[in-house]
Amino acid sequence: MSDRRFGPGPALRGTLRPPPDKSISHRAAILAAMGEGTTRIHGYLDAADTAATLAAIEAVGARVEPDPAGEARDGFDLTIEGVGMRGAASASIDVGNAGTLLRILPGWLAGQGRGEWTLDGDESIRRRPVDRIARPLTAMGATVECRDGRVPPLHLAGASLRGTAHRLEIASAQVKSCLLLAALLAAGPSTVTEPAPSRDHTERMLRAARVPVTSRELRTVPGVGGPPAREIGVGPIERLELEAVDVPGDFSSAAFFVAAAAIVPGSELRIEAVGLNPTRIGLLGILNRMGAAVTIEQEGVGPGGEPRGTLVARHAPLEGTRVHPEEVAVTIDELPLVALVGCFADGETVVEGAGELRRKESDRIAGVVEGLGALGAEIAATDDGFVVAGSGALRGGPIDARGDHRLAMLGAIAGLASSEGVEVSGFDAVGVSYPGFEADLGGLSS
Ligand code: S3P
Repeated sequence: MSDRRFGPGPALRGTLRPPPDKSISHRAAILAAMGEGTTRIHGYLDAADTAATLAAIEAVGARVEPDPAGEARDGFDLTIEGVGMRGAASASIDVGNAGTLLRILPGWLAGQGRGEWTLDGDESIRRRPVDRIARPLTAMGATVECRDGRVPPLHLAGASLRGTAHRLEIASAQVKSCLLLAALLAAGPSTVTEPAPSRDHTERMLRAARVPVTSRELRTVPGVGGPPAREIGVGPIERLELEAVDVPGDFSSAAFFVAAAAIVPGSELRIEAVGLNPTRIGLLGILNRMGAAVTIEQEGVGPGGEPRGTLVARHAPLEGTRVHPEEVAVTIDELPLVALVGCFADGETVVEGAGELRRKESDRIAGVVEGLGALGAEIAATDDGFVVAGSGALRGGPIDARGDHRLAMLGAIAGLASSEGVEVSGFDAVGVSYPGFEADLGGLSS
C-alpha cells in the first residue's frame, strides 16, 4: 500500500539515528570494487538505490560478502573483494532508480581499455541527462553513446584515456566523481574545476585509499566575486587500497527530522551519528539564518574520512531568508525542505540558482511548488528556484509523491506540521533511500 496519511501531529521529542549515508555507500562499493584487496564496510545503506550498486559491482566481477554478525542499523556490514583498477568484466547493468550509480560508475568503466557495458534503469532514470558525463568522458578519449545523445541507456566500450583539464559549468558531485575515477586510469594528470564546492565524499575516500588528491580554491577572498571555484587534481594510479569505511548517518535523511523539529511547535529531537561533512550541511547555515535552534556536537572523523556528530534541533520562531546560488550545491537535496520551512517563517523565502532541481528523481521545483501549493502554501516557481510567502501555517491536503522519495518524506513532515493533515500518495518511494522512515517517525514520543 503506498498511500499514507500524516498528522497533524503533536510535538516531536526523542532521539534517533538516521540510516547510513546513500552517497557514501555508493562510493564505498565502487571504490572497493576498484581495489585489489578486501574492503570492510560498516553500515552500508540497506535501500533500493544502494542495492543496485552492489548488484552492479558484482556484475563486473567484485565479490560482495555480507557479514552475518554485523550490527549496523538500517544497513549491512560487508566485505568486498575488488577486481583491481583494470579488471572490470563486461556487463549489462540495471541501475534501477540510482542516478548516482548511473553517473559515477561509467568513469571507472570508460578507462578499462577493453570490455563493453550498458547502463539502463527505470522510467525516471531514462529521463535523466547523462550527456553531462558523456561529453567530458569523450574528451578524455572514451567511447560512450547514449540515447538521443542525452539520456540512458548508456553504452560504453573500454578505451585508453588521456589526462584532461575539465571545467564544469554546474557544480555536480556526480559528474566530478565520474571524471576523477576516469582520471585515475588516464595516461597523464587531470583536473576538475567546479564553479562552487560540491560534496567531496569521493575525494575523501580516495585519500583514505592512499590516492593523492589535490584540492584548491581558485579565489583567495571568498565571497568576493562569487563562490570560490575549486580545482581538484588526480593523476593516474596503478592500484588503490581501501581498507575500511565506516558509513555515517545520512544528513539528507536526518534533514527531514531537523525540519520537523523546526516547524512542529514544542519539538526537540536529538539526531545521533550523522555525517557532518561541511559540503553536505548547507541546510544548517540556511536554518540558522532563519532563526532555527539547531546545535551540533562534533565527534571526529571515521574510517573513510567523513566527520560525524550529533544534531539537536528544537522548535523556534522562524523568519524568511534568501538562498544564494553558491549555497545550492551543498544543500541540493534539502532545498525542498527549505520551501517547507519557509511556509512556517515570517516573510519571504527565496531560492535561486537551483535549476538543477528540475533534473532530480522528478522535477523538484514543480513537485514542491504544486505539492505545497495544494496544501495551502503561497509558493511560486521561478526559472531556477522558488519564492515562498511564509504565513506561519499550512492547511494540509493531498500530495502526489509517486516516484520521488524525498517528496514523499517532505509530504509526511508537512502533514505533522499542518492543521488538517496530509495524504501522501506514492509513499513507498521512501524505499529508495530511507525504508525505515515511517518506523523512525513512529518511534518518537510527543
Ligand atoms: C549526489 C550528488 C547530487 C545529489 C544526489 C547525490 C552524489 O547530485 O543531488 O542525490 O552522491 O554525488 P548532482 O551531482 O547531480 O548535483
